[in-house]
Amino acid sequence: VKHVDVLVVGGGHGGAQVAIALRQRKFQGSIAIVGDEPHLPYERPPLSKEYLSGEKPFERILIRPPMFWAERQIDMLLGNRVIAVDPVRHYVRLGSGEAIKYSKLVWAAGGIARQLNCAGHDLEGVHVIRSRADVDSMLRGMECANRVIIVGGGYIGLEAAAALSKCNKKITVVESQDRVLARVAGEPLSRFYEAEHCAHGVDIRLSTGVDCIKGSNGRVVGVQISTGEYVPAELVIVGIGIIPAIEPLRQAGASGDNGVDVDAGCRTNLPGIFAIGDCAAHVSGFAGDTVVRLESVQNATDQAMIVARQLTGEPAVYDAVPWFWSNQYNLRLQTVGLSSGHDQAVLRGHVEERRFSIVYLRRGQVIALDCINSTKDYVEGRALVTRKSVLKASELADSSVSLKSLAERVPIQL
Ligand code: APR
Repeated sequence: VKHVDVLVVGGGHGGAQVAIALRQRKFQGSIAIVGDEPHLPYERPPLSKEYLSGEKPFERILIRPPMFWAERQIDMLLGNRVIAVDPVRHYVRLGSGEAIKYSKLVWAAGGIARQLNCAGHDLEGVHVIRSRADVDSMLRGMECANRVIIVGGGYIGLEAAAALSKCNKKITVVESQDRVLARVAGEPLSRFYEAEHCAHGVDIRLSTGVDCIKGSNGRVVGVQISTGEYVPAELVIVGIGIIPAIEPLRQAGASGDNGVDVDAGCRTNLPGIFAIGDCAAHVSGFAGDTVVRLESVQNATDQAMIVARQLTGEPAVYDAVPWFWSNQYNLRLQTVGLSSGHDQAVLRGHVEERRFSIVYLRRGQVIALDCINSTKDYVEGRALVTRKSVLKASELADSSVSLKSLAERVPIQL
């Protein structure tokens, strides 16, 4: 049986970064990445943006050029998935039947796109956006599609709406909650995005679900929505979140209700097994010490660094401030911190100019900012979130006063 010192499961942002960081830190042992996609690690965010709209070819979204991996002796076991983990004897079994023994295992398998379960969910022309293959198969049917229905008004759904409205498609977004971006943003931001999409001709249906998808000759022709209406479409995009890809780990005894639980060192409860990225849940000081499972590139790559540091003999704990971004139309959204649980939302700047920030407070403490085309606020506001600064809404609302000057005034609270 083949033996690998560090076996990484998943070749996304997290998995790639573990291997990159280990070699940067002069790790001499053997490293292998098992990835179920046939491609070298690539950036996922452009899939719902520039890759979808055709502005960036695949070569430009690779995380590293192809020769990088071979040069650093990072063994790429692509088109292969881990189907079982034996945490006692330290080996995994692949879908191909092969067994690999490991010294340390890093589970970075991410998530799989949730599918609808109504009738017609598997018709031709119904797509999710999680992998290159998803987008490539969608693009093959794109020319014949004029009307597109997007199910889910999260980042994926809204970014896809923005990208495809550039391609002159008629778009309807169906969102089951009463506002878009409900999982990730505060209400004022949701309302702003709804209005922007509306101004670009996107029809957003809130508090609306999908009853079934109708087809003809195996291909989608429209969607029956919960208002009783029938909306015709040649293409349906489903962006209703992800399910953490952890089944083999769970079978092996890993704990966690929402993904795999990890400690501040990204260790699971199984010896020698770490978990990072979209599938890992940790206690976050930025969420009032509750357990969170963050879905972001930042979280994946920062947790990867934590693991790499420990595997090269340096103690490390994960306490990075969370950040996110989304590009839609000419709007650059940058978020720092976690806004859920806020009791106050303060507007800075001017919504009409599409340049503003929303500062979220909990008991007077700055916990997050959503910044639209306001990189300065985002950069300077990060210090307020990191230091858990306590500030008055009136001070924060005055956009003639920089957040930097406010940050300098407040003593650091630990
Ligand atoms: N019908 C309509 N809307 C639904 C349904 C449904 N059956 N089920 C869920 N939704 C809505 C949710 O209310 C939510 O607004 O779909 C949206 C899904 O949003 P997210 O959970 O944020 O997931 P998604 O946008 O698919 O993104 C998945 O990709 O870009 C990353 O950060 C993103 O990691 C996340 C992942």
